[in-house]
Amino acid sequence: MSESIILAIESSCDETSASVIINGKIQSNIVTTQLIHERFGGVVPELASRAHQQHIVPVVESAINKAKIQKNDIKAVAFTRGPGLLGSLLVGTSFAKSFALALGVPLIEVHHMHAHVLAHFIDEPKPDFPFICLTVSGGHTQLVLVKSDSQMEIIGETKDDAVGEAFDKGAKMLGLPYPGGPLIDKYAALGEQEKYTFPVSDMVGLNYSFSGIKTALLYFLQEKVKENNNFIDENLNDICASFQATLIKMLLQKLKKAAKQYKIKDVALAGGVSANKGLRKSLQEMAEKERWNVYLPDFQYCTDNAAMIAMAAHFKFTKNEFVDQGVSALPRMAF
Ligand code: KG4
Ligand code: ZN
Repeated sequence: MSESIILAIESSCDETSASVIINGKIQSNIVTTQLIHERFGGVVPELASRAHQQHIVPVVESAINKAKIQKNDIKAVAFTRGPGLLGSLLVGTSFAKSFALALGVPLIEVHHMHAHVLAHFIDEPKPDFPFICLTVSGGHTQLVLVKSDSQMEIIGETKDDAVGEAFDKGAKMLGLPYPGGPLIDKYAALGEQEKYTFPVSDMVGLNYSFSGIKTALLYFLQEKVKENNNFIDENLNDICASFQATLIKMLLQKLKKAAKQYKIKDVALAGGVSANKGLRKSLQEMAEKERWNVYLPDFQYCTDNAAMIAMAAHFKFTKNEFVDQGVSALPRMAF
């Protein structure tokens, strides 16, 4: 096998990112977060693709410079093909195709959700197959049975909102800016999680539903604010702590059920919401009780980043799994 030097690009949502991986080791991971969406309270697809166009060249240049390589050293170019926002994906896909064409090297397509799971192979300790990965992001909530780097099966998922969406929408109701997940996390650490009670939904099997708790929070706040105009300001920490604790309870209940059902002792967390400190702590506590080996990604690899795309691409490079120039973005790419 020739030396594996891959440039990887991620542009599925509102982070423009590029990474260089050499023989399976990440050399650079440059991420530019688009702050423009904050004032709109959510990602505006048209603005996202425009910002990707502005960021992609400098981000790729920084990734190459930081890795201390020359463009001509690159042996393949990888990109997120989907799922994600079409306009955003198109920027990364078109850039990767042109770059690969100019360099005369092959292209590697990567599934964004597979990459979140494979982020666990960037650093030690790496999980053993098979393991279960709870992937929690702004667009997805999935329980994945990971049999190998390419064989993954969704054994449970949300039937409505993703848990990241529940965090962000809940935060919006509390008057917090987008993305609200990290802020709920911050305030929750200062609050009392038993102060308020929200309903824990229980879907059949290993599936999730997060739309009920969102509505419950809305009605709860409407009622309380009617009694006291300053209710949210005065009780922000406790509301965040109680709301977050309920989301975590729902997530871990099904994870426990899945681990039992599939007799799995190796459990991993992935995706943007895996940065949540309350979730990480609760999972570690559960792992101790259940005697699981637990794998938590480094914070820089939780939210969207190209290092995870590079890692996933490295696995494909070793198997010569390339795609041709006819490839196009797939917003609803099958798992
Ligand atoms: O994986 P990601 O960067 O993008 C998607 O593919 O969706 O995940 C973004 C999501 C957002 O909903 C954001 O609020 C949430 O991850 N998030 C958090 C935290 N950090 C990011 N949610 C809760 N606590 C956090 N610390
Ligand atoms: Zn993601």
